[in-house]
Amino acid sequence: MFPKALPTRKRRRTEVASVGGRDEVKFRDVTLFLVEKRMGKSRRNFLSNLARSKGFCLDDALSADVTHVVSEGNAAQELWSWLEEQGFREMQDKHVLHISWFTESMSAGRPVPPEIRHYIQNPAVDQRSRTNPSAKPESALSPYACQRRTTMDNHNKIFTDALEVLAENLELGGNQGPSLAFRRAASVLKSLPAALRHLQETQHLPCLGEHSRAIIEEIFEYGSSSRVEEILNDERYRTMKLFSSVFGVGPKTSESWFCRGLRSFEQVLSEPSVRLNRMQTAGFLFYEDISKPVSRTEASALKIIVEEAVISVNPSATVSITGGFRRGKEFGHDVDFIIKTPEAGQEDVILTAVIERFKSQNILLYSDFQESTFDLRQLPTHCFEAMDHYSKCFLIIKLKREQETDARAGRDWRAVRVDLVAPPLERFAYALLGWTGSTLFERDLRRFARLERGKLLDNHTLYDKATNTFLPANTEEDIFAHLGLEYIEPWQRNA
Ligand code: UTP
Ligand code: MN
Repeated sequence: MFPKALPTRKRRRTEVASVGGRDEVKFRDVTLFLVEKRMGKSRRNFLSNLARSKGFCLDDALSADVTHVVSEGNAAQELWSWLEEQGFREMQDKHVLHISWFTESMSAGRPVPPEIRHYIQNPAVDQRSRTNPSAKPESALSPYACQRRTTMDNHNKIFTDALEVLAENLELGGNQGPSLAFRRAASVLKSLPAALRHLQETQHLPCLGEHSRAIIEEIFEYGSSSRVEEILNDERYRTMKLFSSVFGVGPKTSESWFCRGLRSFEQVLSEPSVRLNRMQTAGFLFYEDISKPVSRTEASALKIIVEEAVISVNPSATVSITGGFRRGKEFGHDVDFIIKTPEAGQEDVILTAVIERFKSQNILLYSDFQESTFDLRQLPTHCFEAMDHYSKCFLIIKLKREQETDARAGRDWRAVRVDLVAPPLERFAYALLGWTGSTLFERDLRRFARLERGKLLDNHTLYDKATNTFLPANTEEDIFAHLGLEYIEPWQRNA
């Protein structure tokens, strides 16, 4: 544009002109913001003019348009607290960079791609996702499942299945803590857009510890893991898994049966000292049916049945499918429904009436109704793993078979596990979010809320510890927004 040997005076005039912001913007997808703190006003002005003269766009305020924040001399902790106070949120397309990135970009005459060394990391965020010097920082995976999009397309099933066997084995042994490490590792792999090709590709992924990596390495080398094979053949694991596959039988009961030397259902059922509760009795009675996965088609047929019953009780109530099917799963171990009642106080009434209706239709095989114990005054609870307080019921229902009838059993239905939950209207968004899962997604939402945002989340509410207030939400989007998280669609929550 300019002649090469531009007289000094003229060039100076060009720079002066840039103060008025008339320089041509060359890089439209980059908007800089220079942090004045520690940099000082005059240096900030000088650097701003320099950048404008090179075709960079700058914003004097930390607006939503800002893509690159540049800071000089500020401690990461201090800088990030200030940024967050200003409402700045960590997002994929926002970069918080050291002045070195700015200087290099000025010499290059263009915004250089930010590298790890340029970033000023938020000290509040888990460092494990950030130790990769070669990965594109823009694509760095979050260690929180609620910041990853995980669809049903798992490209790393061979690895995730193995890691989940290890996790399950620990859970059955009562070691929830250590099992979580394998669950997290599996979840990270599930979110990858493609299959791993080498072990090295795991090096920079968050949540992959040395144990998980060793398993992956073995699978790369031999096609399977000897540790996993060992577990799959282990008598204790096999028996515990068999027992806990019965509705109403958890790890504790399984363990006690195993320790008494019991190894099969026949032995359990003929053991005089074993007392089955009502749920377990139903679990054994309908075992064959309810241990078979429920298909999406069956779930849709059930929705019609539930809807019909709900509407007959309260025409203004609505029914939505939640749980795994809402996340796009093709099969489930049960079908979860959430009922929305516009009138307050209808929650218990509607479920009892629906149960009565199923009874009168002769399709109710088992029901466990739990009255609402919801009381906002008792919140927030710090006990997140506890069940929620909503009115709910766990049912076993007869579902008419469409095609083949079970001639052998002489019946034209199969038993299916159905869960219904009816929260008060103003709690609906929180209940829906909680019941949609996946379990790990929910767990990480809560962990993220607590550790990164100082807020307590559960199936009932979101509580802001800084202001001592409950945050209202009409939709799931509202809840993600309260947490400063990008919205993750239900089918992207298969973490
Ligand atoms: P499920 O156990 O039904 O899991 O719980 P799922 O994801 O639908 O998978 P399958 O296909 O049935 O096996 C669904 C969600 O409901 C929550 C669980 O935490 C899970 O995220 N839930 C369940 C509650 O929040 N409270 C309950 O009392 C029960
Ligand atoms: Mn379910």
